[in-house]
Amino acid sequence: MLKAPLKKTIRDFDIRGKRVLVRVDFNVPLDKDRNVTDDSRIKAAIPTIKYLLEQGAQPILMSHLGRPKGKAVESLRMMPVAKRLKELLKVRVVYLKESVGPRVKAAIEKNRDAVVLLENLRFHPGERENLPDFAKQLAELGDLFVNDAFATAHRAHASTVGVTSYLPSCMGFLMEKELEVLGALLEEPEKPFIVVLGGNKVSDKLGVIDSFIDIADTIITGGGMCFTIIKSMGLEVGQSVIEEDQIPQVASALKKAKRKGVRILVPNDFVVADRFDKSANKKIVPCESIPQDWMGLDIGPMTVEKYCTIIKSAKTIFWNGPMGVFEWSAFGKGTKAIAECISSANATKVVGGGDSDAALRQYKLENKMTFVSTGGGAAMRFLEGKKLPAVEALDEK
Ligand code: 3PG
Repeated sequence: MLKAPLKKTIRDFDIRGKRVLVRVDFNVPLDKDRNVTDDSRIKAAIPTIKYLLEQGAQPILMSHLGRPKGKAVESLRMMPVAKRLKELLKVRVVYLKESVGPRVKAAIEKNRDAVVLLENLRFHPGERENLPDFAKQLAELGDLFVNDAFATAHRAHASTVGVTSYLPSCMGFLMEKELEVLGALLEEPEKPFIVVLGGNKVSDKLGVIDSFIDIADTIITGGGMCFTIIKSMGLEVGQSVIEEDQIPQVASALKKAKRKGVRILVPNDFVVADRFDKSANKKIVPCESIPQDWMGLDIGPMTVEKYCTIIKSAKTIFWNGPMGVFEWSAFGKGTKAIAECISSANATKVVGGGDSDAALRQYKLENKMTFVSTGGGAAMRFLEGKKLPAVEALDEK
């Protein structure tokens, strides 16, 4: 079974008086007035930043925000993040409108007693292309590189991989925690281990399904993804979203699950709608009777009851992806009920990023979970048993 990589941590270095270049993932949602609407990723990086300050080091923070494609985009500047970070940290935060170069170096020297936040790394084409020249320029800003951006660990970019060629490197506390909690799911989860998967696309989930078939006792499915599974079982799904080209892969995953004695469950009933609209007509129908012109937008009450009974028996739960279109209250009951059920279970409860994370926050249940990962894509990649390039690149213990 996959073991958490033995990489150096900040505790392995004497950092007093050092400039510490920290890759964080401050890729946070902003509203139209450019206020941060979910600061959980900023909060998650605070233990590392505080530790650096307590040890007398200067944190030089760097992140991407959105996907600006190698040039400056005004609406994607890091300013709102700097503002929120300052409120949370209650220390001086200096935001620089560039990420590399002589002006940045001078500003860092001038503000040795402050936390520095560099401009959006993806304004520079060298970031995504992992160009050595950009990585080198970033490395010149610090004496040590700390990677605390778990949510970006599946990207081999200049600030995640390239920079490690020029500086001693290690994990930050968030990176350590993410790898430890998610790693434990793959190594020795307490049984019964129940995996709850939802969200739109089964193609995004086949990797983790394959990996969890070897470890979990039951895989519960909902959301748009379950219709491809239902279709591959030979049932009709009306107008519900499916990925036709994934049917053979789904069928072979079902076969593997059967061989291994792992249950992959699909809903018994659905809330179906006559169009994809928050005020569409709706009704509840059994799984095998979805009318031809209707589409499933949430799991039904019978399914909620059945899934909750299974969830309550678990000792370990992993949840990724909503059970329906939870953003619309008419189709959010299933997701809310499953979120409540998971949160009240007497088990280790781990949530893997993305939309399930947003749903949890909407229902104010995030504090009821054992751990909510900050990474969507990175968490899924890791749970598929694949290597994360940004973790691989760090110095070994
Ligand atoms: C994320 O939000 O998943 C990470 O910040 C990575 O962003 P990306 O998918 O734009 O690389």
